[in-house]
Amino acid sequence: MKRNFSIAVLPGDGIGKEIVPEAVKVLEAIGQLHGLAFSFQEAVVGGGAIDQYGRPLPDETLAVAKKANAVLLGAVGGPKWDGLDSSLRPEKALLGLREALGLYANLRPARLFPQLIEASTLKREVIEGTDLLVVRELTGGIYFGEPRGVKPYHNEERGINTEVYTTKEIARIAKVAFEAARKRRRKVTSVDKANVLESSALWRKVVIEVHKDFPDIELSHLYVDNCAMQLIRNPKQFDVIVTTNLFGDILSDEAAMLTGSIGMLPSASVGGRTAMYEPIHGSAPDIAGQNKANPLATILSAAMMLNYSFDQEKAADEIELAVLGVLDQGYRTGDILSAGTKLVGTKEMGELVVKQLMKA
Ligand code: IPM
Ligand code: MG
Repeated sequence: MKRNFSIAVLPGDGIGKEIVPEAVKVLEAIGQLHGLAFSFQEAVVGGGAIDQYGRPLPDETLAVAKKANAVLLGAVGGPKWDGLDSSLRPEKALLGLREALGLYANLRPARLFPQLIEASTLKREVIEGTDLLVVRELTGGIYFGEPRGVKPYHNEERGINTEVYTTKEIARIAKVAFEAARKRRRKVTSVDKANVLESSALWRKVVIEVHKDFPDIELSHLYVDNCAMQLIRNPKQFDVIVTTNLFGDILSDEAAMLTGSIGMLPSASVGGRTAMYEPIHGSAPDIAGQNKANPLATILSAAMMLNYSFDQEKAADEIELAVLGVLDQGYRTGDILSAGTKLVGTKEMGELVVKQLMKA
């Protein structure tokens, strides 16, 4: 089995610069334990790249990402770049990476860590037992559809974006969802707005068609508004949720709150040769540079990398167990702090996970 892996490290902006180094530390530790050799190539992306190269995704960075076996990304964006034209904003780098690497499937698992029940704004009896996976389409829909833009329109302006999906794009993401469900509780909920949108009507039709190859999986459909409600009413009903790019963006943030904090949710973007791993949260400029950010979503994203890209399931499990162990000992960053727990900073949290790994 392959034991040497190259990882493109793209910390990005804001807290990205603080959380990614912690995940790298954890990877180095697990590498030692499992005899895996990682080589890390760092590159700039997002606002930092705009400052340095005038573009959020420089060719140099894309080349580093394409050459690597996997990409570890922090977060991009910040108030400094908010005024830029949309084609130059830091967020464009993320979309560019997803598109250029062909990462059409975004896996966002939301599982409640029992230790964090008190950190959620929701009631214990609602969230207890939550364990779901959002499978978000990532390279299509309104994020990429044409026509788009803001243009003069009579005496005013008109902003346009287009939700567009082809049969093939829907079929391949549906397949990812059904296959993921086979490794879980065998239930898929497809989320659309088929009562209003034609693209959603096609979505539903194609999902039903693909489902014929997965008779062992239970399929149901929800409109997105109802799904948003059901997620906080009774999240335990969900196993795998498959949905469009925009709906998945929104519902995965909502699902994050079921787990206590958005600072806990990892993600994997797959579909191409090189997959990308990143926390689902943003660059949090308000707490950047203060050693306050929660590195656990990024550390758990590194665990997903070991599992999905490097076939190192055992190593991935060990990282998850180490995170659980540290939570069991009562250590928390500010976002998941509750009565009776101990506040630690970003660095300390990373070090605690490494220590826990080494002692296991
Ligand atoms: C996410 C983020 C991005 C998205 C932004 C930063 C472009 O919200 O990964 O969920 O909308 O996809
Ligand atoms: Mg989002």
